[in-house]
Amino acid sequence: MPLYEIRHPLIRHKLGVMRRADLSTKSFRELAQEVGALLTYEASKDLPLEPHEVEGWCGTVRTEKLAGKKVTVVPILRAGIGMLDGVLSLIPGARVSVVGIARNEETLEAHTYLERLVGELDQRLALIVDPMLATGGSMNATIDLLKRAGCKEIRALVLVAAPVGIERVLAAHPDVSIYTASVDDGLNEHGYIMPGLGDAGDRIFGTK
Ligand code: PRP
Ligand code: URA
Repeated sequence: MPLYEIRHPLIRHKLGVMRRADLSTKSFRELAQEVGALLTYEASKDLPLEPHEVEGWCGTVRTEKLAGKKVTVVPILRAGIGMLDGVLSLIPGARVSVVGIARNEETLEAHTYLERLVGELDQRLALIVDPMLATGGSMNATIDLLKRAGCKEIRALVLVAAPVGIERVLAAHPDVSIYTASVDDGLNEHGYIMPGLGDAGDRIFGTK
């Protein structure tokens, strides 16, 4: 199934705190990283392992290690930066591909202004991170450019998602899995997720 709403108690609790309008920038930022790490844990549950051996204190020990594809984390600027360290806290060896996308506030169209991708994308699992999946325009633009660069396995990690955005992404890219802390009610007339978190970029960077 390509949509996973992760209803873990820690995620539910932390996201609930993030919805408070009076939360400090510092706390919002910390919680975005923490929920980002918890979503990473869930999104990596089925990564393949292979047998491995290490020299332990009492001789050779049969262990396991991650096998298969290497990972690239893909934060969508700006707000995706707010989850990046959370992902890297669990997958510290991942390479980071940065994509800059801004949503036009009137048309809600996604405009790509930066693309800095790592190499060998055809051999990597891409974990896209962005706190908000609203109309889905920014996510689809990111998936499109990753696929054009050769990426074959893509998972999206978002804090909050609107049903219309989920439908749009999965209609265009049924092979992509979405992991979210919450599927919210919908969008308001300005394209903001309701109840959502407000403007995630502003809350993470302290702008406005
Ligand atoms: C926000 C958010 C997503 C996008 C979601 O970014 O972080 O990238 O909007 O909206 P969509 O699903 O309708 O495309 P924004 O464009 O506000 O830029 P910012 O991260 O720089 O604040
Ligand atoms: N971008 C945000 O930061 N918040 C929303 O609710 C929608 C898009």
